[in-house]
Amino acid sequence: MKRISLTQYLIEEQRLHNNIPAELRLLLEVVARACKTISHAVGKGALGEVLGTAQSENVQGEVQKKLDIISNDILLEANEWGGHLAAMASEEMETIHPIPNRYPMGEYLLLFDPLDGSSNIDVNVSIGTIFSVLKAADGMESPSEADFLQPGSKQVVAGYAVYGPQTVLVLTTGNGVQCFTLDREMGSWVMTQRNMQIPADTKEFAINASNARHWHPPVKRYVDEMLAGSTGPRAKDFNMRWIASMVADVHRILNRGGIFMYPADAREPDKPGKLRLMYEANPMAFIVEQAGGAATDGQQRILDIQPEKLHQRVPVFLGSKNEVELVTSYHKAK
Ligand code: AHG
Ligand code: MN
Ligand code: MN
Ligand code: MN
Repeated sequence: MKRISLTQYLIEEQRLHNNIPAELRLLLEVVARACKTISHAVGKGALGEVLGTAQSENVQGEVQKKLDIISNDILLEANEWGGHLAAMASEEMETIHPIPNRYPMGEYLLLFDPLDGSSNIDVNVSIGTIFSVLKAADGMESPSEADFLQPGSKQVVAGYAVYGPQTVLVLTTGNGVQCFTLDREMGSWVMTQRNMQIPADTKEFAINASNARHWHPPVKRYVDEMLAGSTGPRAKDFNMRWIASMVADVHRILNRGGIFMYPADAREPDKPGKLRLMYEANPMAFIVEQAGGAATDGQQRILDIQPEKLHQRVPVFLGSKNEVELVTSYHKAK
């Protein structure tokens, strides 16, 4: 089989489909290279002294793992000097990171969750990186947080890497979803899946069931009906998976269908879920929609939400279209 590298794929997207400008292609190459570096650090584990926690908290009050910080630094350093970006933002940084004056400023904005699934780092379970690219407004002189607050439908690229048994990179430039596997010997990304499609129906769901007592009635109803199995209202048996790394759960759904949920719940007093809109929900929603699936916050399409804050949280229901539509209809019916 002919091997298509990430570079060839991106050049052909630019040349044949006129889908991405050269600047964006080069930016993607840099992000992919940074993911390769993170994969390498992750793979060393205890031998590279990268496991365990750091002595710090991020802006969301989470204790940072060493790899959260290492991955953030790798992405910052790789992307600072290329001339394609105006600024970056990350789960691990309170506010935006403008490109330093010593480098030229480009027209794109990059957002990332440098290391997704932090609780899995030390136990050798799949983790990943999520990223999203936006275009800065024309004529923008010095970027501010407000420049990032664009709805997800404005994303020009979204992607994630999974550092698991294999390292894979999944991305969309708005023309379907492709998967590349890292060839560790050659150091290159090789296309292994073209046009990934999520089946519209599924018998598998993903939710952290330990929060069940806090769920709002629509979520409780939806999950209870699945748990009732073949003799219940859904008339079929469902299976459950929860990895606690969104990247790994979403990757499974892209490959064999399923629904992933991190709902709002009745805590404090109305917790909007856990996941962050700008660098978790939006990029994943873009990818899932490009693969024929759906993504809502229970009420509306995630990609239509007008962000108000960089680190804002949002309820997430994404994956197989018919299931996402069903749980969304339960929210609307309440
Ligand atoms: P992060 O490690 O980037 O902070 O994100 C973790 C997220 C997501 O990956 C996962 O789906 C979810 O947190 C797991 O949450 P619980 O620990 O509540 O199950
Ligand atoms: Mn975190
Ligand atoms: Mn995350
Ligand atoms: Mn993270």
